[in-house]
Amino acid sequence: MLFEHAPRRVCLNEVSVRDGFQSEAVFVPTEDKIRLIDALSATGLARIEVTSFVSPKAIPNLRDAAEVMQAITRVPGVIYTALVPNEKGAERALACAADEINLVMSIGERHNLANMRMRCDQSLAQFRNIMKLVAAAPVRVNGTIATAFGCPFDGEQPLDRVLWAAGEYLAMGMHSLTLADTTGMGHPQQVADFCRAVRTAFPGVPVTAHFHNTRGMGLANVLAAVDAGVDSIDASLGGIGGCPYAPGATGNICTEDTVHMLEACGIDTGVDLDALLDLARELPTLLGHPVPGQVLQAGKRTQRQACPEAA
Ligand code: COA
Ligand code: ZN
Repeated sequence: MLFEHAPRRVCLNEVSVRDGFQSEAVFVPTEDKIRLIDALSATGLARIEVTSFVSPKAIPNLRDAAEVMQAITRVPGVIYTALVPNEKGAERALACAADEINLVMSIGERHNLANMRMRCDQSLAQFRNIMKLVAAAPVRVNGTIATAFGCPFDGEQPLDRVLWAAGEYLAMGMHSLTLADTTGMGHPQQVADFCRAVRTAFPGVPVTAHFHNTRGMGLANVLAAVDAGVDSIDASLGGIGGCPYAPGATGNICTEDTVHMLEACGIDTGVDLDALLDLARELPTLLGHPVPGQVLQAGKRTQRQACPEAA
């Protein structure tokens, strides 16, 4: 069997409306964001990263974070999360009753400086204060280790540094971890090694993997993570997205392509692939440009084409 160690069920977390929309050249109207999130909520996704509570100067496209978070219709069972870089972001997310806040630090010092304008020790100090702030609130806290598989400025990150960040996060009380390949530098062997090491070092801690397809290794990395026992994957409708603070960064792995692949391999995602494809089909009109998703272009593998000879 190909994936002897893989979980039979993998949760899909939708990040297009955050990781995707943050780098779009044109502002996506607030009502379109809300409509898309509401439609995504009905497709069986486990978690939706709705927006980010960052500086509107840094990410103008998500300046409507509070409005969006407050206006969406929440489906019971779906976790509505938001990216938070600092205390101010945490306060704003709490005011909108986000189910989860996703604290993000890049372990590549220079990427963290470019992206968050903080050194890693400053990010961690912010996070410690945030953990005090949220102690009494009914909110979960996920810690994202960004540039876990390589920093575009500082290069490959040693496994020890990933384990260090994970240890810091968990020691301050975060509930779960995301290992993020922010700029698509990770390869399947590294992903397998790092995911196994994190799961062994921190047994029972929920781990999500977040990949970008910048160098064509995105779905291969999903399989490596899943085979290493990771049962939660971030992905983006249509494959849109990318970090605005990393030169040449391109799309996240595509949600519908990921669901299509996992289901073909006999791994249940609980996601309605046809419903996702219907939503992905609307993206080029919404964004004003084509999107990289492949199943959208080729159709599902089970779909039959008209044979030319029979015409
Ligand atoms: N939400 C909204 N506004 C915020 C904010 C937040 N979380 N944090 C800071 N600000 C505002 C401040 O109030 C201040 O506003 P003012 O100029 O009107 O007084 C301004 O932003 C600068 O504040 P400062 O604390 O000096 O922040 P900074 O300029 O050092 O930037 C971050 C730090 C983290 C706020 C900024 O770099 C950021 O938002 N980065 C996110 C980048 C991102 O999302 N990248 C992609 C996802 S990984
Ligand atoms: Zn990303």
